[in-house]
Formats: sequence, C-alpha cells, structure tokens
Amino acid sequence: MTQTSALHKQIQLGDITLNNRIIMAPLTRTRANGDVANELMAEHYSQRASAGLLIAEATAVMKDTVAFLNGPGIYSDEHVEGWKKVTDAVHAKGGKIFLQIWHGGRASHPDLNGGVVPVAASALAITNDEVHTAEGKKAYTVPRALETEEIPTIVDAFKQGAIYAKQAGFDGVEVHAANGYLLDNFLRDGSNQREDQYGGSIENRARLLFEVLDAVIDVWGAGKVGLRTSPLNSFNSMLDSDPVGHTKYLAKRLNDYNLAYWHLMRADFLQQQSGDVVTPARKIYQGNLIGNMGYSADEAEQAVANQQLDAVAFGVPFIANPDLVERLAVNVELNEADPNTFYLGGEKGYTDYPFMNK
Ligand SMILES: Cc1cc2nc3c(=O)[nH]c(=O)nc-3n(C[C@H](O)[C@H](O)[C@H](O)COP(=O)(O)O)c2cc1C
Repeated sequence: MTQTSALHKQIQLGDITLNNRIIMAPLTRTRANGDVANELMAEHYSQRASAGLLIAEATAVMKDTVAFLNGPGIYSDEHVEGWKKVTDAVHAKGGKIFLQIWHGGRASHPDLNGGVVPVAASALAITNDEVHTAEGKKAYTVPRALETEEIPTIVDAFKQGAIYAKQAGFDGVEVHAANGYLLDNFLRDGSNQREDQYGGSIENRARLLFEVLDAVIDVWGAGKVGLRTSPLNSFNSMLDSDPVGHTKYLAKRLNDYNLAYWHLMRADFLQQQSGDVVTPARKIYQGNLIGNMGYSADEAEQAVANQQLDAVAFGVPFIANPDLVERLAVNVELNEADPNTFYLGGEKGYTDYPFMNK
C-alpha cells in the first residue's frame, strides 16, 4: 500500500474534510479519573492524531448510566474541562476528533452507578456475560423498563451531551446505537418487548434513535453527526429476528438525514449471528458508509477502492499502532495488541506502544 492507496485519499464527511479514510474506532479504555478525561487520555488520542478521524470512546450523557469503571462522562462542566485537554492535544497535531455519546442502558450495573437500577426498553437482563465492578465480576441485574413518559429525558440527555461535547471542542459527535446499549436495546426485537409507540414494528423500535438523532442534529447540524449500529452483534445478549431488514429500514430513513456518516459494524463479536449487512446498506444508503470489524489492511483497501465502503474504522489495530496510518502507507508490520491491558488503568498498553521510527 502506498500514500496514493484508496485508504490514504482525502474524503469529505459531511462538513469535515479528512486527510485519509483510516478511522480510529471508538475504544473504551477505562483510563479516566473517575469519569473525567485527563492528560493521559490526551496523550493517547494525540499519539493517534494522524487517523483521518478519531472517534473517542463511549461517553455517558447521563449520570448513573455507565457500564465500565473509570469510563468518561459528558454531562458536567468538569467533564468539558477534562475533554478539552484531549481535543486541544489532538487539534494541536492537526487531527479531527468526534465523541461517541452514549447511554449504557441495561449494561449499567448499580455497583457502578451509586446503586441506581439500570433502565432499558424492557425488563430483560444480559445473561451471556458478567460485568466488571470494583469487587470483581458480577451478574448483570434485571433492568427497569423505561416508562413512556420518561423517554423525553433520555432524548434531552443526548441533546445536553451534544451541547457539552461542542463546548469541549470536539469536531462532531457519533451517536452510539450499537452493541446492546440503550439505543440499540430499543432497536432490536430480541430486547424490546414494549407495547407503546417505542416497541413492536421496526418503525416504533427505531423511534427513540431518530428522536435522539433529531435532537443531536439540532445542536450540531447533520454534517457533524455520525451514527453507529451493529445489527448482527450478539454481545450484551442482543438478538434481532431480521438484522438485514432493520439495516435496510435504517438505510432508507437515513437517506433523509445527510449525516456525516453511518458507521456500520458488520459482524458479531461472539460469532453467533452471521449475514451480510454491508451490501444492502451500501445499495440503499446514499451517504458516507464507514465499515468496521475485523478488516485487514488489504481488505479495507479493497473495500474502499471498489467503493463498497467510503472509509474503514480500525479498533484493535489502533490500540497497538498509534501510527497505523503511516504503517499502512509503507506496508510495515503491525504491533500486536495486548488484551490484558485493554481495560486497566495507567500507561501500560495505552500510551507505550512503539511508533515505527522512534
Ligand atoms: C478494548 C475495546 C473497547 C471498545 N470500546 C468500544 C466503545 O467504547 N464503543 C464502541 O462502539 N465500540 C467499542 N469497541 C468495539 C470497537 O470499536 C470495534 O468495533 C472492534 O474492536 C472491532 O473492530 P476491529 O476488528 O478493527 O478491532 C471496543 C472494542 C475493544 C477491543
């Protein structure tokens, strides 16, 4: 691969111009001070500033909704000050950075959230995994189904989070509607058994997501808003009876939105559900499509060269290779990531992966 590869070509994503199509996927790394972003995170993200776009990790828009210890928030002035360190450091190196705005839904354990019982579309617990608490791993709790009248408070929290993200100097926001967290939990029929206007048909299940998108677009303008979905991922006990159908539905609706991008995860972390969601998304969706999950450099290059995707997001490769963009340009071997340090605190496995030329 060379500097003139398809992945290294500029792209206009909504209102922003990216230097290349190699995107850093959102990666929760649990390095915040409590829930406040810090210098260490600024160092981590700015090391990776040559990515066409950095998408900063899942960040809570609402108090008492996190699924991870030391995961950041964006619902207070203190959070804004913390994230400013990150955006300033990334911008100083010429990078672009979006914030992934998030509500943990039923993955938010009471032990991580002052005893608060998590909320979800329906009172169904995650059963295929355990949650990390300060006292070790525990079973997920049964969430409380949100009352219909409470739903505007969720939409408003996303809107407020979007406002705070703007104050913190981000270039845009990505709405997190993937991986079983609250918005995805409404979207897929395996976790949504509601009988109000937010459950049942795909139109109803997608209602909260589109209400959130409308609210966030109100703050940022559509050209600085992205959306992430994961129709096939069974992580967090998720299932959908028709992942391709719901992808097609979203693709059609999203055509009216002019978003910066739609970020589609193509597979299942747990490899229990399979299918092709990328082809129908590409066929129907007229905006910028970012693909993710398990792309090698070669496959990503091909997907962009043949216009199946407009850009590719890399997760684990960016953990271990701060200079992934430069490495892919000269086809150099990649560093291996160490999964033992993914969710630790501190610099190890976070800011100490070597650059090629250092
Ligand atoms: C340590 C770790 C943390 C992650 N955190 C997030 C997150 O905060 N938000 C999100 O949408 N996905 C998250 N993911 C999923 C990644 O964004 C990405 O989808 C996944 O790593 C697959 O892409 P890859 O094959 O290029 O690594 C995380 C993955 C890992 C390994």
